[in-house]
Amino acid sequence: MKLGFLASHGGSNMQAILDGCAAGRIPASPALLICNNPGAGALDRAAKAGMPARVLNGQTHPDPADLDAAILDALRAAQVDLVILAGYMKKIGPQLLASYQNRILNIHPALLPKFGGQGMFGMHVHRAVIAAGETESGATVHLIDEVYDEGPILQQARVPVLPGDTPETLQLRVLEQEHQLYPDTIAKIATGQIQLP
Ligand code: GRF
Repeated sequence: MKLGFLASHGGSNMQAILDGCAAGRIPASPALLICNNPGAGALDRAAKAGMPARVLNGQTHPDPADLDAAILDALRAAQVDLVILAGYMKKIGPQLLASYQNRILNIHPALLPKFGGQGMFGMHVHRAVIAAGETESGATVHLIDEVYDEGPILQQARVPVLPGDTPETLQLRVLEQEHQLYPDTIAKIATGQIQLP
């Protein structure tokens, strides 16, 4: 199984998955990284791992339909089976969505269906969880469909929200879980323990 990553920033989740592949815990091969941001740390991580990478964005492809097609072409050319969103801050285009239906994964730093949807990303999520007085948060790996954060949930991990937590301390506790949960979910897909629709 070949993995294609879409990332915008640091790519610590992508790194956890690359490490899992290198260590043989995930029977899959990282094939390609696509980044919208030419300054993303994820590009350095891909280079270190020897994984090919492309920068595709509104500068390289001003027409959104062209960009969507270029991303799809690149994934197909690399024979990618499973698309992994790893902190990708752009919306997935309709061509990519249709061609990789039920084969695009995302990780969200909360227990969906709570604290998802438009505008709910990064620190906004942890701030909202604390403001709501939740005693528990976590991470969710789910399939992508047309609606933000609403595709079928594959796996979740839970963490406590502790008294005195700030969005930053909660984010770190959740991220630690993300780094276990995302590789574990992909390993289960690659070995057939999780069957995609
Ligand atoms: C993670 O918090 C993930 O839940 C969200 O974006 C962040 C990506 O972090 N979708 P990283 O780039 O993997 O470090």
